Amino acid sequence: MKIFLDTANLQLIKEYNEMGLVDGITTNPTLLAKENNDPIEIMKEIVRLVKGPVSLEVVSQDYEGMIDEAHRLKKFGENVVVKIPMTSNGLKAIRRLKEDHIDTNCTLVFSSNQAILAAKSGARYVSPFIGRLDDAGHKGMNLIKEIVEIFKNYNFDTEVIVASVRHPLHVISAARIGADIVTLPPDVLAKMLKHPLTDKGLDTFNSDWEKVKKTYPNLIL
Ligand code: G3P
Repeated sequence: MKIFLDTANLQLIKEYNEMGLVDGITTNPTLLAKENNDPIEIMKEIVRLVKGPVSLEVVSQDYEGMIDEAHRLKKFGENVVVKIPMTSNGLKAIRRLKEDHIDTNCTLVFSSNQAILAAKSGARYVSPFIGRLDDAGHKGMNLIKEIVEIFKNYNFDTEVIVASVRHPLHVISAARIGADIVTLPPDVLAKMLKHPLTDKGLDTFNSDWEKVKKTYPNLIL
């Protein structure tokens, strides 16, 4: 399972990238709005920092606008994937961008029907938003199960990015289903790493080693 970070925060991207945990990045206008910097410069810097695919989203809703923005965003770097919303204009744009050899990530997907249409239009990735479905009283993870099954049935090469992830249990469920990618808010990745018994165990090892050092003061490990 590939792990993408769902953020536009350069400091956190650098931190996790140095740990080798970042297979790619997804951003959106909301995430960029949270950062206090020029969004264009932030996007360029993310593309420079990260080797894997970086999803950058168009803001136009008309077909021509999406195509123009996609071509401009693609100039930021080879690893740019253009995020296109799941609309009729979006599907048209996805088809055209495939012909232009620009990878796309179809975003704001909330049903298997939408995922099928995105895959058939040639999207490289689809992003079903599971947390927002959970918020609305639907089981978001059921959607992932369905999409993964459908894509397998037809050998679609579109990859499923589990998006709108809210907690580590979402990650485990997605991994058990066999989803290709999860895109994680940095705090979810931080929570995956932690366990209270790890901290407790480490404290015990440290204090026991201190005792050993008292007995053998010249000890060097
Ligand atoms: O990748 C999409 C994601 O950023 C949406 O997350 O938490 O706003 O539903 P959320």
